[in-house]
Amino acid sequence: MEFKKFDNEIDASKFAADIVLDLIKNNNKAKLGLATGSTPITLYDILCSDYIKNKTNWSEVKTFNLDEYYGLSIESKASYHYFMNHHLFSKININKSNTYFPSENNNYDNLIKQNGSIDLQILGIGTNGHIGFNEPGSDINSLTRLVDLTKSTIEVNAKKFFNNDISAVPKKAISMGLKSIMQAKKIVLLAFGSSKYDAISKLKKSTKFDPNFPASVLFDHPDVTIIIDKEADIDL
Ligand code: GLP
Repeated sequence: MEFKKFDNEIDASKFAADIVLDLIKNNNKAKLGLATGSTPITLYDILCSDYIKNKTNWSEVKTFNLDEYYGLSIESKASYHYFMNHHLFSKININKSNTYFPSENNNYDNLIKQNGSIDLQILGIGTNGHIGFNEPGSDINSLTRLVDLTKSTIEVNAKKFFNNDISAVPKKAISMGLKSIMQAKKIVLLAFGSSKYDAISKLKKSTKFDPNFPASVLFDHPDVTIIIDKEADIDL
């Protein structure tokens, strides 16, 4: 795991955007694994600005999102489908039929395999160490499946995305598993702000998989870059 620390979220996101854009420029059929949440929004903004300026060609790129809430209409403004359309897909020339999300019936891991595996997986991290929606207790061999969200994740997401209305937050989601994520050729994890400090400190110390801290699985991947701002790790 390589840690790259920046003064602020914008510089950090620019660094991440360059990794994405270099990949697409070298391989116009690149397969990207994408994350939602507040963390990658600046990265997606930069990718949209790049499209206006440089017309980077996304027409043959395929994207695979990490997760989606279960039981929420994909038209809902809180759905991850809506999030991706709003923050990225509607602002670049991606072909919508090349954008995939896990669902109960689409055999997502096979779908990814049939497309030849993910070249670059973008991740955020939950304050409890979840990646995707792989909450503490997740199995190291987990594949895409229906998962229960923890109370703390529901509370955090209620504040950020549901006007603090806990009752509106779905209690389940479909998430790529830890094994699914680890199959990506390259992984970039973003973490910004002091709320991620504890998770990043734990990640730095990870030398083996701890099911109570799912992000620790990454220690064993050959190509992981952790991109953080100074608030997420004042000690680095
Ligand atoms: C969410 C998502 C994750 C995301 C994480 C952090 O619940 N399922 O994919 O990385 O929690 O979210 P945020 O970026 O808003 O801090």
